[in-house]
Amino acid sequence: MVISMKITWLGHAAVLIEGSKTILIDPFLTNNPTASLSVDKLPKIDIVLVTHDHFDHLGDTKAILERDKSAFFGVHELSLHQDIAGKSDEIVGGNIGGTYHFEDVSASLTPAIHSAEVGAPSGYIIKLDGHTLYHSGDTALFSDMKLLPQLYGDIDIAFLPIGGHYTMDVPAAVQAVNYIRPKQVVPIHYNTWPPIAADADAFKSHVHGSKALILQPGESCEV
Ligand code: NI
Ligand code: MN
Repeated sequence: MVISMKITWLGHAAVLIEGSKTILIDPFLTNNPTASLSVDKLPKIDIVLVTHDHFDHLGDTKAILERDKSAFFGVHELSLHQDIAGKSDEIVGGNIGGTYHFEDVSASLTPAIHSAEVGAPSGYIIKLDGHTLYHSGDTALFSDMKLLPQLYGDIDIAFLPIGGHYTMDVPAAVQAVNYIRPKQVVPIHYNTWPPIAADADAFKSHVHGSKALILQPGESCEV
């Protein structure tokens, strides 16, 4: 059954999904100059997903897991991180290509071309309430992104970095959209700090065949 759900960009790579479950990806709020809210203003989080252990993604994971006893799913070595291991009863490590099922949610770990202190960086395909979402994590462009809709079905909404320097820049992210063909795409991981300044309007103007949604931190969309 398809149920509409609310998705909020909290700034940088942090995305809050509020459907039949509440899912938070890359919860970097404290010390994030663009964060739209603080941890104490978050709803209760059922599942925390973290793409890799860089500080701007791991962020407030520990505080949220301890407060809400949220489930966690991520790359094995990351699940053993001191901020994650033992912080709730449902800490599950997998690896790229693997899928975790939590009641009516599935989360699959996808490749990312990036670095990490431990394990490997990842992205996620999330299925919830009849929708398929893709959060690429920090990544360079790679042509195997083409396989995502083949493996996981049509993607309703994708969250892609456009800030360059550490990840895809605008032209690379436009090509990623051509590979993934999501119904909607939201640019993230830009304008948090000067090295990742990017022109979201330029991204929007170059995206064709998908609806580019330029959100402000704290702004929501519905799928
Ligand atoms: Ni990173
Ligand atoms: Mn990052």
